[in-house]
Amino acid sequence: MREKLGLATIFKGLADIIWRAVPSLVTTHALVGIVHGIFTGLGAVAFQRFFDAVTEAVAVPGALAAVYWSLAFLCFVHIGKEVLNGVHNFISNVLLMKLNGYVNLQIHAKASRMEPIAFENGEFLDDINKAREGAQNSLVLILISSTIFTFYLPYFIFMAVYLYSLKPSLALALVLVFVPTAITQFIRSAVFARLEDQVAPKRREFDYYERCLVHREYFKETRQLGAVSFFRRLYFTALRLLQRETWRAELRTNLIELGMNLVSFAGYGGVLYLLVTSLFRGEISVGSFAAVFASVGTMFSIMEEILVRHFGEISKGMGTVRNFIRFLNLAERKGDVAAVARSGDIVLKDVSFTYPGAEEPSLRGINLTVRSGETLAIVGPNGAGKSTLVRLLTGLYLPTGGEVLVDGVSTKELAPQALYEGVSGVFQKYQRYQMTLKENVMISDTASNSDADFKAALTKAELDLDPGTFPVGAETMLSREFDGVDLSGGQWQRVAVARGFYRQHNLIILDEPTAAIDPLEETRIYKQFEEMSRNKTSILVTHRLGSARVADRIVVLDNGEISAVGTHAELMDTPGLYQEMYRAQAQWYAS
Ligand SMILES: Nc1ncnc2c1ncn2[C@@H]1O[C@H](COP(=O)(O)OP(=O)(O)OP(=O)(O)O)[C@@H](O)[C@H]1O
Ligand SMILES: [Mg+2]
Repeated sequence: MREKLGLATIFKGLADIIWRAVPSLVTTHALVGIVHGIFTGLGAVAFQRFFDAVTEAVAVPGALAAVYWSLAFLCFVHIGKEVLNGVHNFISNVLLMKLNGYVNLQIHAKASRMEPIAFENGEFLDDINKAREGAQNSLVLILISSTIFTFYLPYFIFMAVYLYSLKPSLALALVLVFVPTAITQFIRSAVFARLEDQVAPKRREFDYYERCLVHREYFKETRQLGAVSFFRRLYFTALRLLQRETWRAELRTNLIELGMNLVSFAGYGGVLYLLVTSLFRGEISVGSFAAVFASVGTMFSIMEEILVRHFGEISKGMGTVRNFIRFLNLAERKGDVAAVARSGDIVLKDVSFTYPGAEEPSLRGINLTVRSGETLAIVGPNGAGKSTLVRLLTGLYLPTGGEVLVDGVSTKELAPQALYEGVSGVFQKYQRYQMTLKENVMISDTASNSDADFKAALTKAELDLDPGTFPVGAETMLSREFDGVDLSGGQWQRVAVARGFYRQHNLIILDEPTAAIDPLEETRIYKQFEEMSRNKTSILVTHRLGSARVADRIVVLDNGEISAVGTHAELMDTPGLYQEMYRAQAQWYAS
């Protein structure tokens, strides 16, 4: 999965992105950059002309016209350079601003096209985090590299030609001077890319501890448990480790940089020597000497700026940018996008499933047909594989062995959007969206916008709009963070149930939908559920075996395998897990 991406692939990926986002702006930026670069080079020529004219005028009195002309040229070039500089910077800023949101959108879009199972994989989660960081760094990289190619490069080409025309060896000497600095930066790039791969898992850990300490979902419990200092300690340990690794990389690259700078400096001395001897031998004019002398300084500081500051930033960020492009190039889940009606049977043929990175399969040898229109209950101990089975039935995950056929087609051959159409559900780990009640429910079917359906869904979920809980009814904001109200666990679950019922469906999955709901309401919800599940395929996962009795058939899962299938009466007649579990629960209610 971790193939190495070359620089060419990275730059091509970035070029594609900016070209698609803002083609005309990029073109303008490049053109202005090129003219700006040439004007900067012309500065040296204008300087030389002016100097030569002045020395000429001193030697031959009366030759002032040439001085005025060359002065006018010098002014023109310098003013032009300043104006171009301003325009170039302005366009750079606009470019950055426009690209900023755009790269993040690329990540979201890509993540939505990925195989959902990828999100169970720690390595993939690292990839997303690194990609997000890389997206930001890629902006800097895009801007710098575009400036290098469209401003600095034309400038140096211009200067090389100019120096060559004065004396060929001058041009060559300049190139040699910069090589050591370039080498340093390549080493730097390699060191930081390696660092990035090394510290990514640690960083994820570190972020998680921080969440445990300050995040709303966690902080109540961690405080109550007195676990704050425990997480702080873990946080500090991870932080120190991260810092130490970064510090080491910095130290190593800085030492190399120092050595190479000394070599560059010696090169600088060589160029000056060449210049002085050429002047004395009469090979170049005084004006050329002055112009080259001044521009060698300019070129050095520009080169340093490019190589140390810009390339430094690039190579530091290159590790993460590589991750960004690698992420965008990851394989996606493909398949037929034509929606399946979900009106036929769901057939599981010798299905097995292993989570990424897990040693043992979570499901094994599952052969089962969920008949169209039936209500099927799935029961079994914790960790038996119930929720996993549900994810295979919806098509969220694909089986690692065997096949799941939906309306006769294998889920592997269908695109995710085709599979999810017509499926609704209330899942064990449902979300509490920080939005209004209405949005929380209607989010399950954004295509429809029916008030009547919304009200019906609330009724089916036994959710009362009582003004004590919902001060502004359906529009009540369900979030403390956004100045709204918070609900109790059971109330949230009813919102989730209403959400599941609101979505148009032929198949509905209820994975522990009422675990937090009080028994009186639960019974009412099940009655409603029985009512509405007629003619629709329904799958109900539950630990309350009493409620499984509403089902036409019950599947008993045990340790990833089907241990029995039958009606409640049939299962109660055969000794086994179901009978055992049922008796254990019933015991609480027997007087
Ligand atoms: N993301 C994951 N990565 C690796 N293993 C997982 C993952 N999710 C679940 N498992 C494993 O798969 C097995 C089945 O889990 P599953 O959630 O399907 O059980 P369940 O029957 O729904 O349990 P419960 O009654 O507690 O909801 C468990 O052994 C669990 O450890
Ligand atoms: Mg479960």
